Amino acid sequence: MNLILLGAPGAGKGTQAKFIAEKYDIPHISTGDMLRSAVINETELGIKAKEYMDGGELVPDEVVVGIVKERLLEKDCEKGFILDGFPRTVVQANVLKEALAQAEKRVDVALNIEVSEEELVKRLTGRRSCKNCGKIYHVFFTPPKSKGLCDVCGKELYQRDDDTVETVKNRLKVYRDQTAPLIGYYRNKGTLKTVDGKKSVADVERSVILLLKDVE
Ligand code: AP5
Ligand code: MG
Ligand code: ZN
Repeated sequence: MNLILLGAPGAGKGTQAKFIAEKYDIPHISTGDMLRSAVINETELGIKAKEYMDGGELVPDEVVVGIVKERLLEKDCEKGFILDGFPRTVVQANVLKEALAQAEKRVDVALNIEVSEEELVKRLTGRRSCKNCGKIYHVFFTPPKSKGLCDVCGKELYQRDDDTVETVKNRLKVYRDQTAPLIGYYRNKGTLKTVDGKKSVADVERSVILLLKDVE
């Protein structure tokens, strides 16, 4: 199954992608995670991307499409994949379409997770993530068992640099202007499915399973 996840910052893409990747045994490809690790490792890509990310702007298309095309060629993507945070512009969507067509593949489902803006700000400012395994928590909604430590691996949790109120506002604006048009793009292609992301994590997981049932 070739799946892409659409949804505003904080909608729960990362949370649901981890669940879907495990359940359907396909790799979870998050451009945000790839870029953050490049920033930490101070690679050429990371140095280019950091300023855009800290300001809540998109990293230029030509930078991001290269890393995704390369990743999709890896062997583990043969059985399918879940893209989280890509495509984010119509240009990226067209590049993805062409790259997949070359391998006689296509996007099977574009899953859009819908959540109101007010809720998104609460989710992002309370998010904490594990430095080691990437598991995502929230200080109120899904807190870890012991404060500041990951339930799975026991390592320290951190807050993302772009989860400040100011940057979150800009990320939401960038989403509305540049990424939201992809909802119509995939609706026109007949691959759009929408899930109500306001419910609890477990309820959203259940809805996702139902929506993906006819795709397998
Ligand atoms: P990226 O890392 O993709 O960030 P984003 O799109 O802003 O999305 P988030 O990761 O913030 O939210 P999410 O939907 O994954 O939510 P999560 O599951 O964590 O991108 C970061 C930056 O990288 C961009 O700004 C850009 O600069 C750059 N970039 C990345 N991809 C790019 C691309 N393709 N092109 C150009 N630039 C790119 O959940 C959020 C919180 O809510 C958590 O605390 C979680 O525990 C909680 N939560 C989740 N679900 C629920 C629920 N159902 N109920 C209650 N709480 C919930
Ligand atoms: Mg994410
Ligand atoms: Zn962990």
